[in-house]
Amino acid sequence: MIQDKPEPQDSSHRIATSDDIEVSTYLEIAKELGGEQPSPRSEVLPGAERETIVVIDFGSQYSLLIARRIRECQVYCELVSHDTPWEKIIPLNPKGFILSGGPASVYEDGAPMAPAYIYEKNLPVLGICYGMQVITHQLGGKVTPAAKREYGHAILHTSNVDSPLFADLDTSAPVWMSHGDQIEEMPPGFTSLAYTETSPFAVMGNDRNIFGLQFHPEVVHTPQGKTILKNFAHRICGCRGNWTMGSFVKDSLVRIKKQVGTGKVINALSGGVDSAVVASLIHHAIGDQLTCIFVNNGLLRREEAERTLNVFRRNLGMNTTYVDASQRFLERLKEVTDPEAKRKAIGEEFIKVFEEEAGKIGRVDFLAQGTLYPDVIESASSGSKAAAKIKTHHNVGGLPARMTLKLIEPLRYLFKDEVRQVGLELGLPEEMIWRQPFPGPGLAIRIIGEVTREKLEILRSADWIVMNEIKKAQLYRQLWQSFAILTDVKSVGVMGDYRTYGYLVAIRAVTSEDAMTADWSRLPYDLLARISNRIVNEVAGVNRVVYDITSKPPSTIEWE
Ligand code: XMP
Repeated sequence: MIQDKPEPQDSSHRIATSDDIEVSTYLEIAKELGGEQPSPRSEVLPGAERETIVVIDFGSQYSLLIARRIRECQVYCELVSHDTPWEKIIPLNPKGFILSGGPASVYEDGAPMAPAYIYEKNLPVLGICYGMQVITHQLGGKVTPAAKREYGHAILHTSNVDSPLFADLDTSAPVWMSHGDQIEEMPPGFTSLAYTETSPFAVMGNDRNIFGLQFHPEVVHTPQGKTILKNFAHRICGCRGNWTMGSFVKDSLVRIKKQVGTGKVINALSGGVDSAVVASLIHHAIGDQLTCIFVNNGLLRREEAERTLNVFRRNLGMNTTYVDASQRFLERLKEVTDPEAKRKAIGEEFIKVFEEEAGKIGRVDFLAQGTLYPDVIESASSGSKAAAKIKTHHNVGGLPARMTLKLIEPLRYLFKDEVRQVGLELGLPEEMIWRQPFPGPGLAIRIIGEVTREKLEILRSADWIVMNEIKKAQLYRQLWQSFAILTDVKSVGVMGDYRTYGYLVAIRAVTSEDAMTADWSRLPYDLLARISNRIVNEVAGVNRVVYDITSKPPSTIEWE
């Protein structure tokens, strides 16, 4: 049973962040609180073991994906801006460079170019699309606009089968093209290693291990792309492949112990995988010096609070303070209908509750946070480009700068799938590790219009059915998210001999790699039928169910 107050023996508490809440909210909290950023970059793997492929970012939407693919080859990889000075690259111990794609044209004024060290350090270089054009332009070849933008599938034929880049690759392989410019003349010293019907220089290389690919090996539409990237990392750059989550955990434990010393850490728990992994990692390192705080905002799914608390208190034995603040949040949300206003209200209320609870703990030195690598990259790039804000995922209002907490972000250099692997290494329950992302504002942004207790109950019941049926159909892990939305539309129905006038529930199920883009899942019809039948039969107040068949973009995953 959940208790409103911490048990008396609970001398400490913890807070971890929800999947999303933590990523944005606490980062902001810590900043507002004057928290310090750790500089863990040089500590990702100790000393000589660290081997990095550095991706030079020219702004492609796929840049981060390149880094992720390289990591999947057990090689540590970081993405840096194209104007990063060499001094900042040295601590990474680079073994090779990848130049990403990008939207510019090399012959335009001000087009970004590769820094001189790319060509001067005698390290292997792989240019992808725009990256290849940059190499061509800078080393004396010729790039021109193509008569027609080439976008889509092509077949790559390798003409130099001995190139280590093509080891274990079929001599003809499907690849994905997306470019408006093309290589007209390769730079001196380069030869064509592969061609497609339209690109005589689909792959080029020279004897100094500088290569260019006209296509995108990082996207799923290039099925053997990972083999090419792996060949580059292992065979050409000579990386040993020592980036494993086991090595990460081992190193993190030492690092966290060193960073925290005898200090006290708080962590906000949400039930999400990121906050759970942060908590578990820190708990392994410093035990009871960590306190978790778990705020129930009343916007959680059915049984979520109980399950989360059970895992952290009972199974993992962590100091966990539980606060049932549902009533406060509901009151705060009264008559709020605008999505952004909902987020703001929830964020502000959360900070109030968090502060109150943190204040009861006594001395606290560190705030743990589940910031992931994509967030680090996103915040770095939004600083320079003033990215348009589509939705406020930061649930933070004003925060009094009373506390001075240092920030501890052990997952700062990990991708989501790596976080899950770390969770497995640490022995977290599978159910927690494979939990689909859940937004910080919870069910409030899945209820269109005002949030009320009655609507929350309706949505919880419908959502429960969706989750159970998706799990029964063994689709839960394959889907990025699957859930119900309670719309503010009411429609007429008939049940037995009676006319009904009930709510319309929408079902959303999407596949995605990173939530930046998503596609609606082609769920089997009978599964949809079962979900629909069960909802209208079992959830009072609902008499119609629809399935959302829009992708992102142009829609978003959540409805608000
Ligand atoms: P959208 O709806 O923007 O969602 O396609 C992308 C991902 O972010 C989650 N999401 C949020 N997470 N606070 C959060 O912590 C928010 O306000 C929020 N809005 C959306 C969403 O569930 C999806 O995974």
